[in-house]
Amino acid sequence: MSQRRFLVTSGLPYSNGRLHVGHIAGAYLPADTYVRYLRARGEDVRFICGSDDNGVAALISARKEGTTVEELTARYNARQAADFKGLGISFDIYGGTHQPGFAELHTRLSQEFFRRIHEKGYFTKKTTQQLFDVQANQFLPDRYVKGKCYLCGYEEAYGDQCENCGQSLDAAKLIDPVSTITGSRPELRETTHWYLQLNQFEEQLRAWLESKRQASPGNPAWRETVLNFSLGQIRQGLPERAMTRDLDWGIPVPLDDPDAAGKVLYVWFDAPIGYVSFTARLCQDRDGDAELYTRWWKDPDCKIVHFIGEDNTVFHTLIWPAMLMAEGTYQLPWQVVANAFLNIKFPGQEEQKISKSRGTAIWIEEYLQTFEPDPLRYYLTAVAPENQRTTFDIDDFINRNNGELVAALGNFIYGRTVKFAHQYFEGRVPPVGKRTEGDHEFLARIGEFRDRIAAEIEAFRFKNAIGVLMEFARAANGYYDSRQPWKSRKTDMADCGTAINVSLQIVRAMTTLMAPFLPFSALKCLDMLRLDESALQWDRATEQLPEGHALGEPVILFKKLDAAELFGTGE
Ligand code: 2FM
Ligand code: ZN
Repeated sequence: MSQRRFLVTSGLPYSNGRLHVGHIAGAYLPADTYVRYLRARGEDVRFICGSDDNGVAALISARKEGTTVEELTARYNARQAADFKGLGISFDIYGGTHQPGFAELHTRLSQEFFRRIHEKGYFTKKTTQQLFDVQANQFLPDRYVKGKCYLCGYEEAYGDQCENCGQSLDAAKLIDPVSTITGSRPELRETTHWYLQLNQFEEQLRAWLESKRQASPGNPAWRETVLNFSLGQIRQGLPERAMTRDLDWGIPVPLDDPDAAGKVLYVWFDAPIGYVSFTARLCQDRDGDAELYTRWWKDPDCKIVHFIGEDNTVFHTLIWPAMLMAEGTYQLPWQVVANAFLNIKFPGQEEQKISKSRGTAIWIEEYLQTFEPDPLRYYLTAVAPENQRTTFDIDDFINRNNGELVAALGNFIYGRTVKFAHQYFEGRVPPVGKRTEGDHEFLARIGEFRDRIAAEIEAFRFKNAIGVLMEFARAANGYYDSRQPWKSRKTDMADCGTAINVSLQIVRAMTTLMAPFLPFSALKCLDMLRLDESALQWDRATEQLPEGHALGEPVILFKKLDAAELFGTGE
């Protein structure tokens, strides 16, 4: 197969707080697994992320923390980047829509984008009544106002989106609105904004989304949850959406019009353009020319993949594609992979939603202070909320760590194979000797495991993929049990060597196949096998270690965990 080209993005986190396990399971870990796999296949891939700094979310937090919005977003940008690094999320670039070094390019590209849509006549300029906080003397866009959702009745809906029904809202229509700045009841005042006429794109969006239902070779179908939600929205009719706001934090509206003075672009207008501007910055750094971003964004040979949390669906499958259609020179996303939310269950408690205010979150910073990243990566993939909400159940996390990572995968590699080879074969790969039929059969199965894992990852089914990896580990233990090298070492050293030779070939393959999921452990395995990183190339998984090859020191891959040391009770 010739080399393919991918531009992979993860939803840009708001730089106003810390990251917890739910964020990671949604938009970051599956994307990283996918990218690591693509790199191992030798594909041309760039993995883009950074913080979403503009908009009201950061303003609210800055006010709460008594700091400036610049300071707040810079601080959380750095903390989130450190979390991602600690978990091995391997972005090629981590930018920020208002961060020094990124803001200039981001502003230019966002303003160009806006101006082009304006020139093409897809915006309608309108003066309407909007919510205004008299005490604070300002309009109340987006999260500055809360109220009852006029679509589903949820009491705590924000001005721009309801977190219950996932629909994007018009703040002026909220029932019983309250200002989140002063707690007062806002009044209506006139203001002028630019509205994107989404209904003009309904037909084009519908046809494009319908075309994603059917898989074709090399083009997996989109998840049904994503398609059903998005097509359902089109059936109801897409309302016009204001793409500008009355705020003094964000990207100035680039129009020579007195009504544009003091206004900025809607944060959901500029945020997805962050994917583009960070790509441009990466091209500047790596290829010497920011304009080369077009090779990724405007060339249909490149496949664009967006990984997001489910609450971002409407923005990635309808509004952003409509913006791209209106702008006219970009290509559309090839895939939008949305994951549902993750609930949490502490020992002895009911399952509940992850909530910062109720203290029911597992923060990445805290996790990484005590624990290794791979067990968390393992569990979050094994229970990935791919098609519906799933639960991070702490007891289950412990059981699966101890039963699957420690007892099946880790013990096969470390205790049963590498350590054994050190104890009885002087730390070298024993001679092939006379392989049994079972040996040949098992070696032949390795390629099947590799291909099954690949097929699942290519179809964005990461939970199945890691299930196959674990099936491989269990089968490897079954093979080992059937060969009983711990017995043959006393009776038939040559046959024992043959079994350990095969077991080392299995470890060799596991190293490559685990790497997209468990990158830190894969590196330890490379050291144990004395191989360099090129051994992680996917097609080399079935290569065999030569007889006599010297191994590195055995190191324990996974440790048993205990619920108490882990997260207490969630109080
Ligand atoms: O929901 C969020 O956290 C948003 N900050 C995601 C933005 S994704 C993208 F379009 F930038
Ligand atoms: Zn709602």
